[in-house]
Amino acid sequence: MDSTANKIDPARADRDDPLRAFRDRFELPQGVIYLDGNSLGALPKSVRQRVAKTISEEWGEQLIRSWNSADWVHLPQRVGERIARLIGAEERTVVATDSTSINLFKVLSAALDLNPDRRKIVSERENFPTDLYIAEGVAKQIGKGHRLVLADTPQDILGMLDEDVAVLMLTHVNYRNGYRHDMAALTKSAHEKGILVIWDLAHTAGAMPIDLTGAQADFAIGCGYKYLNGGPGAPAFLYVNPRHQGGFRQPLSGWFGHRAPFDFDADYRPSEGVEQYLCGTPPVLAMVAMDEAMALWDDVDMETVRAKSVAMCDLFIQEIDTYAEEFGLKLATPRDPHLRGSQVSYSCHNGYAIMQALIARGVIGDFRAPDIIRFGMAPLYLSFAEVSEAAAILKQILETRTWDQPEYHVRGAVT
Ligand SMILES: Cc1ncc(COP(=O)(O)O)c(C=O)c1O
Repeated sequence: MDSTANKIDPARADRDDPLRAFRDRFELPQGVIYLDGNSLGALPKSVRQRVAKTISEEWGEQLIRSWNSADWVHLPQRVGERIARLIGAEERTVVATDSTSINLFKVLSAALDLNPDRRKIVSERENFPTDLYIAEGVAKQIGKGHRLVLADTPQDILGMLDEDVAVLMLTHVNYRNGYRHDMAALTKSAHEKGILVIWDLAHTAGAMPIDLTGAQADFAIGCGYKYLNGGPGAPAFLYVNPRHQGGFRQPLSGWFGHRAPFDFDADYRPSEGVEQYLCGTPPVLAMVAMDEAMALWDDVDMETVRAKSVAMCDLFIQEIDTYAEEFGLKLATPRDPHLRGSQVSYSCHNGYAIMQALIARGVIGDFRAPDIIRFGMAPLYLSFAEVSEAAAILKQILETRTWDQPEYHVRGAVT
């Protein structure tokens, strides 16, 4: 699709934006255009109050009684139910717990156990590294000759699905270039060959509607701190299709996955539901922040979010198209909205320094080695005017070569 076909007028798009009231529900600093909600979502105002209340009243006054009186103990399930609605999952199939990496360890172990006669895990070289590292770790841990095989391009995946593949493990939206897989089609093709499918929804949940139930996905995992706005290091989530619940003991068999943790039974008897995938005591302050952030989504229609996200990405691409070639910016994200998530990425020389110069001007995106500058579009708190202004500021920085100042070339630990 030619992104210049329907030129978007930012002022008009903001006027007609059905989501514009949500901006007020977030704390965003003056003078910042925040295009990094795909990495760390903004702070919902209500989270500050809710966490303060949890600290002062529930922890400070009620102390340990709050596990029952404030129902801290069921936060993983409660937050899980809220996430389930956004990702097309049925009730009692999602829990909020641990990190995405740890959740992948659990569901990949389960999936391999459910497909015991096969030895291959298929993924992509371009997948987020933690997914590949965890898969290597699980394969080694099992010690039965499992191995990870990687597709070089998304188009190579189907051809790799043979009768020795146990699990197809993919990230729905690529973290670097924003490419989006066809979840339903790939899951169907894999199932036809007896392969189980795990989807990493880190860049999907909160960015667009998806239908895990309709796609018949086997397992899914994802982050709480990106588009869901759960806060830095927020609890992650995992989904287990009901047909696989109870079929297997996931290896991190901690007491919160026991069917009756407070029986203090010496023998592990796993919960039959998705709760089996819990491990230890939930981090209550982080869970409460996540719960409050998720409450905001109760009023959100995901189709509307997706429509705004597509329009924002189109606008950004249209505006940068007018100068990209002159400054050596190469669009790394597909132009076709069906093939992309909610971010726009460019590859370019000096990408790190260009991003630092942008951040110094208040436009916050990020850089992914070796040469990608990334801009995430979070429809709940971004305006079209900001997207347009960010594109204009990028142009100024390139024209004036501001990025070439020495301080913008100094790398921080986090890029
Ligand atoms: C696709 C994907 N998976 C996983 C992670 C990170 O997982 P964790 O929260 O365990 O660090 C990220 C982080 O950006 C990611 O993009």
